[in-house]
Amino acid sequence: SNLPQDLFGAIASLKKELNAVILAHYYQEGDIQDIADYIGDSLGLSQQAASTSADVILFAGVHFMAETAKILNPDKLVLLPDLEAGCSLADSCPPDKFAQFKAQHPDHIVISYINCTAEIKALSDIICTSSNAVKIVQQIPPEQPIIFAPDRNLGRYVMEQTGREMVLWDGSCIVHETFSEKKIVQLKIEHPQAQILAHPECETPVLRHADYIGSTTALLKYAMQSNSSEFIIATEPGIIHQMQKDAPHKSFIPAPPENNCNCNECPYMRLNTLEKVYLALKNRTPNIEIPPSIQQKALQPIQRMLEMS
Ligand code: 13P
Ligand code: SF4
Repeated sequence: SNLPQDLFGAIASLKKELNAVILAHYYQEGDIQDIADYIGDSLGLSQQAASTSADVILFAGVHFMAETAKILNPDKLVLLPDLEAGCSLADSCPPDKFAQFKAQHPDHIVISYINCTAEIKALSDIICTSSNAVKIVQQIPPEQPIIFAPDRNLGRYVMEQTGREMVLWDGSCIVHETFSEKKIVQLKIEHPQAQILAHPECETPVLRHADYIGSTTALLKYAMQSNSSEFIIATEPGIIHQMQKDAPHKSFIPAPPENNCNCNECPYMRLNTLEKVYLALKNRTPNIEIPPSIQQKALQPIQRMLEMS
């Protein structure tokens, strides 16, 4: 093939040439995390996208994340190494169905998890991520009814934390749904000292066993600060790359999925490869385009989130 021998070096020089920044999510493969300028959770990545002075953003994550970066930067080139890198949560919430759902609850304010399409964002009042969802819902006046979309697991968790009733859209993440409560309990018996860290996209039976629940960044910070030296990680195992780098003497065990598959890895996130990162920078494509009317409507709820975080 025409790929350079030294992909790391080639990516570094293309980055300079284009004045590009690489923003990566923790669920990306280790090599991609290692060449990123910034690695973070969805909120951190949005904040970086909102403040970057780069001309080009290469987003090593999934489509809704790159879309968010483009909504914040309509005049910049936003590259996504593989346009097929979608998300089951975003897919679970088609705009026409959601518009009907919204029309059935006309007095409700719409809070949408950032894991949704630009069209859904354009139909929303406020966007949230797993790191600020509780904080944002707490800022809504108690008499104001709320629709929360599209993740029912995060929605349930937020309802529990805030004591607020919310109307939930029935979506879920195919990765966080695969964790087996039974296997986590068995693992805990084998590793009684281990702390269980879980993402709020997990289902309630798994969350019940967690010592700590949070966004990817929050889980990483917790693991670093904890006195524990052993952890069971109930989220996509890509995060373990950074945990292990930051705490080489601690041990991180991926929570097992129900079947003997590697379906705790996000098949969308893992479509991105170092080769595709290189090719995207070299060819300045594939890139994200959003119709201006949707971009303008989707920007407001994202800005509200950034103000309320
Ligand atoms: P956070 O990194 O914001 O916790 O999101 C997790 C996730 O599933 C992203 O798709
Ligand atoms: Fe979507 Fe789940 Fe993959 Fe995150 S891990 S991108 S929520 S499918």
